[in-house]
Amino acid sequence: MKFFVDTADIADIKDLASTGLLDGVTTNPSLIAKSGRNFLEVVEEICGIVEGPVSAEVTALDVDTMLAEGRKLAKLAKNIAVKVPLTWDGLKACKVLTGEGTMVNVTLCFSANQALLAAKAGATFISPFIGRLDDINLDGMELIHEIRTIYDNYDYATQILAASIRTANHVKEVAMLGADVATVPPAVLRSLVNHPLTDKGLEQFLADWKKTGQKIL
Ligand code: G3P
Repeated sequence: MKFFVDTADIADIKDLASTGLLDGVTTNPSLIAKSGRNFLEVVEEICGIVEGPVSAEVTALDVDTMLAEGRKLAKLAKNIAVKVPLTWDGLKACKVLTGEGTMVNVTLCFSANQALLAAKAGATFISPFIGRLDDINLDGMELIHEIRTIYDNYDYATQILAASIRTANHVKEVAMLGADVATVPPAVLRSLVNHPLTDKGLEQFLADWKKTGQKIL
């Protein structure tokens, strides 16, 4: 499974990219606002840090302006994935932009039928929002399962990019359900390595090693 980080914070992106385990970045207008940076500048900078896809979202609602915005974003770097909302205009823009060779991430997906439409429109990524479904007492994981089944039934190449991930358990569950990508907030991504028995075991090994009086280097 690929890991994207869901942030526009450059320090976090650089730090996580240094692990060699980061496959891409997703941003959205809320994350750009949180960064306090100029949208085009920060997205271009992110594209220079990671080789994989960097999602940058259009803000227009009509297809013509979405296309103009998407084409401008796509010119920033080769690894831009233009993010469009799951509306009819967004789907039309998706079809045109993918036809032009641009990666497209269709976002704000909350149903399997929406995901089916995005695949038919040639989306590179579909972004089902797990946490926001859970927030209203619906089942985000059930949605991942439904989309996986539908995409496999028809061999759609659209990658399932599980978004709105809030916990380490969310990451494990979407991996078990066969999501292609998880986009994860920096703190949750860092937390995946944690286990108290790892810490305890390491402490014991190091204490015993010290008793031997030996050194490797
Ligand atoms: O990037 C979209 C998504 O990951 C947002 O997550 O936590 O704001 O629902 P959240």
